[in-house]
Amino acid sequence: VAHKQKLSYLRSLDEWRELHLHFNTIKNTRIDSLYRDDKEREARYTQRLGALTINYANNCFNEETLYLLRRLAQRLEIEKSIQNLFSCEKVNHTEQRAALHSALRSPELFSGHYYTNSMQHEIEQCYQRMSAIVKRVRAGDFWGHTGKPIQAIVNIGIGGSDLGPKFVVDALAPYVQDNLHFDFVSNLDPWQITTALKNLDKERTVFIICSKTFTTLETLTNAKVAFEWLGGREVIERQCIAVTANIEEAKRFGIASENILPMWDWVGGRFSLWSAIGLSIAMAIGMEGFSELLCGASEVDVHVYRSPLEDNIPLTLALLDIWHANFWNYPTRAIIPYTEHLRYFIDYCQQLIMESNGKSVDRDGAFVDYATSPIIWGGIGSNSQHAFHQLLMQGTHIVPIDFVIFGQCAVRDKQHQHQLLQAQLKAQSDALLKGNNQADINNSKLVVGDNPHNIILQDSLNAKNIGNLIALWEYRTILSALIWRINPFDQFGVELGKNNFKQHYSWY
Ligand code: F6P
Repeated sequence: VAHKQKLSYLRSLDEWRELHLHFNTIKNTRIDSLYRDDKEREARYTQRLGALTINYANNCFNEETLYLLRRLAQRLEIEKSIQNLFSCEKVNHTEQRAALHSALRSPELFSGHYYTNSMQHEIEQCYQRMSAIVKRVRAGDFWGHTGKPIQAIVNIGIGGSDLGPKFVVDALAPYVQDNLHFDFVSNLDPWQITTALKNLDKERTVFIICSKTFTTLETLTNAKVAFEWLGGREVIERQCIAVTANIEEAKRFGIASENILPMWDWVGGRFSLWSAIGLSIAMAIGMEGFSELLCGASEVDVHVYRSPLEDNIPLTLALLDIWHANFWNYPTRAIIPYTEHLRYFIDYCQQLIMESNGKSVDRDGAFVDYATSPIIWGGIGSNSQHAFHQLLMQGTHIVPIDFVIFGQCAVRDKQHQHQLLQAQLKAQSDALLKGNNQADINNSKLVVGDNPHNIILQDSLNAKNIGNLIALWEYRTILSALIWRINPFDQFGVELGKNNFKQHYSWY
């Protein structure tokens, strides 16, 4: 008899088997029928977190489901794992590192740890240096080599050294200082930096070279193009800033020491916009605005740190994500923000989620025999209705969706148009939930409905609320990893491509 592969630890648990048995009792239940049986459903499954109103009622689960999911989480000692996130445990066990991005915005949760006490001094020093640079740029006191005030800031970086700052600076455009222009260069394709430099003034442009390792080919190649464009060494020393954990390499590269801001190995790239990697954000919205962003994330830190399991909203969302991925076997998840302000949020979440949870080995080093991260995709609504909603309505794939929308419009005199946008989202949600299940309709026009989706409402657009949103998604991702028993903080899978390149590169 073929030797049955030993079940993974997770699937060997009674709590996991109980969930499968429960799934078989609920899998033929329509979501809209759950409302008929429970008038309080929407109210019960709509909760506030900071400035977010999170409605997760439009998914196929009941109180028994939540009870069993939370029992699984308890069996996996999730509370202890959450406390470990706020200690100096090496939760990134494969690289033997802590993951302390939360310490950048919620130092009070880490006080008393000898390790973080010494870190606090480094963090404060770094923010003071950031603040001094930011104040000079915003006051027109950061001069180029000919004594003219800087007006253009170009962030050169990729992945976590690009996506977070780019998303936040773009999202908070109404708050960006008028006379400052921001650009984000990331791709190796020379077209991007060439077009970016075309409209810039050498005497008024500063480059922020963001690279935790300072070895990323795309970033160093683009930085060299920027250096050539700027001209001589003294210009580079004056108009180039580096943010890196590899200070010596940045110096060798030609960056003046006083313009090198530190990063630390206990801040992962995709969790780093709260560090000096967020320098372009602070330049755009000011140090006060940057502090508001941190404050919004800190609200979620405190919520996760303090909430009992059943009140922990990011955990509830993570458990429903697992319910969809591992029991309904939905291979993808869509993020559809009904707002232009979040147009780069999808790209940001793709790295956050798929680079964190695109793993197949558990913390014991065994291959998993269950699905981990779903494929994250999406698009901006209402445009998405004219692009891929047909598949969502009548396709052969069921896709759990996260809709995100603002309560208030950022354009003062266009509230009515914003109300149309809100009504569009409501109409789509109703169609996805109820379909048009008229008995007399021919099949080609039938919309079955019963499509799972969350609706996240942000009160209004500001730095604090964006901090809430990002931290919610960070914890949803990390807590999912804790249940899947995988490490969300390493990314060995991307090393191979880089090493392969070196062979090809040395060839030509
Ligand atoms: O994608 C791989 C990766 O290492 C990401 O984790 C990181 O954000 C990105 O490349 C850039 O790395 P660095 O900041 O070291 O240039």
